[in-house]
Amino acid sequence: MAPVSLQSSAPGKVILFGEHAVVYGRPAIAVPVTQIRATAIVEPAPPGSGLTLVAPDIGKNVPLATAPQEEPLAVAARLTLDHLSAPEPDATLTVSSTIPIASGLGSGAAVSTALIRALATSLGHTLEPAEVSALAFKVEKIHHGTPSGIDNTVVAYEQPVYFVRGHPVERLTVGEHFTLLIGDTGIRSPTKKIVGLVRQACNRNPARYDALFDQMGDLADEARQAIEIGDIETLGLLMDENHTLLIELHVSSPRLDELVETARLTGALGAKLSGAGRGGNMIALVEDDFAEEVAESLREAGAVRVICTTITTTE
Ligand code: PMV
Repeated sequence: MAPVSLQSSAPGKVILFGEHAVVYGRPAIAVPVTQIRATAIVEPAPPGSGLTLVAPDIGKNVPLATAPQEEPLAVAARLTLDHLSAPEPDATLTVSSTIPIASGLGSGAAVSTALIRALATSLGHTLEPAEVSALAFKVEKIHHGTPSGIDNTVVAYEQPVYFVRGHPVERLTVGEHFTLLIGDTGIRSPTKKIVGLVRQACNRNPARYDALFDQMGDLADEARQAIEIGDIETLGLLMDENHTLLIELHVSSPRLDELVETARLTGALGAKLSGAGRGGNMIALVEDDFAEEVAESLREAGAVRVICTTITTTE
């Protein structure tokens, strides 16, 4: 089937609870961040030209036929065509993204998700979120090495999720909307590297790390309940506790700790780092009336970008 022009997009994400522990089978909670998105556009190309992958943001313009084996965009495109048993179309597939890379906001998963959806839809197929997520997970393995699968899941479903590795995803019901500020340290932090450091430390001291992961898993379970019944104050306290455990895991950093502390001192109900850590972003739970004040304090304390997002149950 000849491709038709169309566009798909996918959101960024933050992990609310359970990063790292989720790699070791504990539950985690993640939510989509719809203000930042990856977009993929498919346009028909002259017969015989094959599929060309274009990513202007990173100066990439490469025919699928000659793209390196491990090139993430090419991997996503090949997996999609294989999944659909579809021949390579004559088309140009352009991806772009407003999601900062290597900062815990799910940029890789969002780019893959947008690309997979756009390519499939242009060929006349509508993929279920579970199919998109499974394909994006295979691409994540190139970025991350041993991903838990939480990033591709929350991005493909575009809903708050309670996630346990290897289990079917559970969509979270949000009892009362809540507002998050996402503050960027401006320090890039590749997930693969930090996950590797945690793995080494865990191998040296499995009993201690298992105990930390258990505590993080318990927090994720308590947080799930708080989210479902709309107990925002408890949610904030649980975020604070999760940050303390992440410090003990040695994945925080002075910049992250400063921003977390600033948020708390200026009225946030709770704050923690989000994602792999050592850089990237922190999140703060705020009452709506205080959001602008806390955001301003985060900027004054050196956050290079502050995103404000409201989490609700989406249909
Ligand atoms: O992509 P990030 O930085 O949000 O990190 C993903 C969360 C980890 O738990 C650290 C890794 C994983 O695969 O779940």
